[in-house]
Amino acid sequence: MKSVVKNKNIVLGVSGGIAAYKSVELLRLLIKEEANVRVIMTNNALEFVGRLTFEALSRQPVCTGLFEKVDDASIRHIDWANEADAVIIAPATANIIGKIAWGIADDALSTFILAVTCPVIICPSMNTNMYETKSVRRNLDRLKSDGHFVIEPESGELACGITGPGRLPEPEDILDRLLSYLSPKDMKGKRILVTAGPTRESIDPVRFISNPSSGKMGFAVARAAEQRGGNVILITGPTELPDPHNVMVVRVGTAREMAFAVFEQVENSEIIIKTAAVSDYSPKEQAGQKIKKEKDELVLVLEKTRDILKEVGMRKEDRILVGFAAETENLEQYAGKKLVEKNLDIIVGNLVDRSSGFGTDTNKVTMFYKDGTKEVFPEMQKDDVAHTLLDRILSVDGAL
Ligand SMILES: Cc1cc2nc3c(=O)[nH]c(=O)nc-3n(C[C@H](O)[C@H](O)[C@H](O)COP(=O)(O)O)c2cc1C
Repeated sequence: MKSVVKNKNIVLGVSGGIAAYKSVELLRLLIKEEANVRVIMTNNALEFVGRLTFEALSRQPVCTGLFEKVDDASIRHIDWANEADAVIIAPATANIIGKIAWGIADDALSTFILAVTCPVIICPSMNTNMYETKSVRRNLDRLKSDGHFVIEPESGELACGITGPGRLPEPEDILDRLLSYLSPKDMKGKRILVTAGPTRESIDPVRFISNPSSGKMGFAVARAAEQRGGNVILITGPTELPDPHNVMVVRVGTAREMAFAVFEQVENSEIIIKTAAVSDYSPKEQAGQKIKKEKDELVLVLEKTRDILKEVGMRKEDRILVGFAAETENLEQYAGKKLVEKNLDIIVGNLVDRSSGFGTDTNKVTMFYKDGTKEVFPEMQKDDVAHTLLDRILSVDGAL
């Protein structure tokens, strides 16, 4: 599935809050998703960020005033409202929130909003006391009951020095939520288990055996499944990645812990997608203290870890089971063997190189299906690989 905002008309509203600088990055991310973005700024927003940055990134004129001269005789706020597929206001000041809640139309952004019929997503951001004041709370409740989506601010240290709720979420998180609101809910209510990341097998208290898996592929699958309405549990080894929104995350360390966490969830899952790079071997013994650099050679004896995917495959019943295979050679042969041996419906294979595999944002995959067919895909963002995989899962016979 292509990004839900690709070729869609998105209007980004920017009002005069300290977090206006973050909307530049949000615009960049939307352009990266190939959305067609138009920007409306309030006059006060111009005190914080210049229009030129938005114009250069969106390659469109920015609208800041109702009565600005335009080249043709169009009525811009009405035309843009008619053509919009979604509107996102980030940051949304207490002022614009109040105006939208009460139907006030005294500048370009507030007047435009009254004419809009598509989904409107509002991202409040302000000082904690402002955010918690009764009038702002009342206005936000009103916006929600009017059918607008509100992305609540995060808690943290604010520019004004106070710590509390009011901070605009990071642009990546706002984009994630926007995609979620706009995605078709074709996995609604499905119980989906995803594994991600590496595992760490201890040699001694300060050393371990692991691999460079970043967890990005599994986190992308979990995000995509949540966006499409799934109830997602993500079991992940150590990664730097933040928890995806609305996903239950279980963090584990070793292959053994990963196995326990997965087996606990198998019964309750309808779709299992195993992207984790679980260690195949673990040191047979772990030294109680740090091993000292004394001998010229050190021999580590490793023993096989449990084959989680194979065991899940044996208990598969009518579940959909998907595995991943990162190989350095003979992809077709190894992936095909794994597909059969582990009783999988789909295996997603990739050859590890610089643009594909561990730690990268992109992946170049081939999907092998249990009927013996395969699909070779061009290099794609991991988010796109995730959505494409979910499309294929939905079309597996008798799956859903
Ligand atoms: C330095 C500074 C930072 C501000 N930051 C915020 C903010 O983060 N959120 C907010 O609601 N208002 C903030 N304000 C107040 C708004 O700019 C003010 O309420 C303004 O009328 C909003 O206009 P607009 O909604 O038309 O953009 C800030 C004001 C100043 C001077």
